[in-house]
Amino acid sequence: EYPLPLPPAKSKSLTWTGDSTGAAIDYYEVELKSFKQQIYPNLPATELEGYDGMSPGPTFFMQQGREAVVRFTNNGPSNMSVHVHGQYNRAPFDGWAADYATPSQYKDYYYPNAQNARTIWYHDHTEYSTAEHAYRGQEGFYIITDPQEESLGLPSGKYDIPLGLTAKVYNSDGSLQFNPNNNFGLWGDVIQVNGQPWPYLNVEPRKYRLRLLDGSLSRTFTVSLQEGLDGDALGFDVIASDCGLLSQPVKTSNLTIAMGERYEIVVDFANYAGQNVTMRNAPSAGENADYAATDMVMRFIVGDTVSDTTNNGDVPQNLREILAIPTGEPAKDFAFERIDNEWVVNGVGFSDIEHRILTRPERGTDEIWTLRNAGGGVTHPVHIHLVDFQVLSRTGGRNTVLPYEAVGRKDVIFLAPGEEAQVVARYAPWAGVYMFHCHNLVHEDHQMLVAFNVTQLEK
Ligand code: C2O
Ligand code: CU
Repeated sequence: EYPLPLPPAKSKSLTWTGDSTGAAIDYYEVELKSFKQQIYPNLPATELEGYDGMSPGPTFFMQQGREAVVRFTNNGPSNMSVHVHGQYNRAPFDGWAADYATPSQYKDYYYPNAQNARTIWYHDHTEYSTAEHAYRGQEGFYIITDPQEESLGLPSGKYDIPLGLTAKVYNSDGSLQFNPNNNFGLWGDVIQVNGQPWPYLNVEPRKYRLRLLDGSLSRTFTVSLQEGLDGDALGFDVIASDCGLLSQPVKTSNLTIAMGERYEIVVDFANYAGQNVTMRNAPSAGENADYAATDMVMRFIVGDTVSDTTNNGDVPQNLREILAIPTGEPAKDFAFERIDNEWVVNGVGFSDIEHRILTRPERGTDEIWTLRNAGGGVTHPVHIHLVDFQVLSRTGGRNTVLPYEAVGRKDVIFLAPGEEAQVVARYAPWAGVYMFHCHNLVHEDHQMLVAFNVTQLEK
């Protein structure tokens, strides 16, 4: 067993100060490249691709209100288009799938970092190869903080841990096997956290903030924490989802997280000094293939002493004020389905260049979209770029908005077979063409990727 890797913080190269505005803009440089690393115990080293030659890539820590420019240089083996998932980027910097840098080119991306604190992530979004690029390592964390969140006294520093979950398949020579199963998905029999199969983390008997990301191609996880291997389940507080803090914490003992989703939880290890706590994964939420060890995610080894007792109090009952989005506009309807062996949205796929812009919201309007999983017998976690949405309803399956979905804002909604959800969002702040798609990246690469064009009203 190996320790949980913690990706290093990305440091900036320099800071510009605008002459006219006085605003500081931080400048970063990242190099995408191939590298080899020994990952799977007792197998040869694995060839990977990653930002700054690591996977996950370095973690960006951004402060709300501090803009950034990141130069991504593509010294990798194929095309590159970088998307920061969960931030409202201007369209030219949002990782549009057809807007890639070829090997040896670079692209400078501008990031506003204007939104509330949130755990987001960056990953490749190149047309028809997003799944393989992410699978081979092109993903990392991007964390925005803000003063309101910092005032809450949540566990921080070494008690604030990002956990990026993925699932892989290895060949006996140590290489990654990329087999997307007739384009249904790649579920993986090896669960990894921050790039390491089934790791452990030494923790102190106190509260921790864990930032969960499902960065896998196709695997949905339902995580729980057990005393020992199979003991009693621990309760924990869900405090945040895709778009930052919930309005109030939600207590639960298991949490379903689908591809592209983020959930943050606060766990208290105080009662488990000297013991192990295991993060388990319940079998199959969805069409996941289960394997011998996919019920296991990682292990926490709880020590006996607490070295720092700050930020170890109760989770505040009011985390953030979230205003309801007015819901006046008529619903638009989008069906995610399988037609002629391709995954499409309202019958359209990404290579249908003439038709792939499905709708044109006016900038600043609030729209209700109905997202329907209309067949194929599989799950589709649907991601809308640019906006934070509120989930209004889910019908046709679980018939409920889950408690931790209801009190926050999301950018991915997980739809089981036959389910549909209504989501409302304000199509703002920028005009431009943005993608929405299934975040089973294998589906995405096989056409389930379309766009909307936020239009500017002429005044
Ligand atoms: Cu996480 Cu359009 O992607
Ligand atoms: Cu899908």
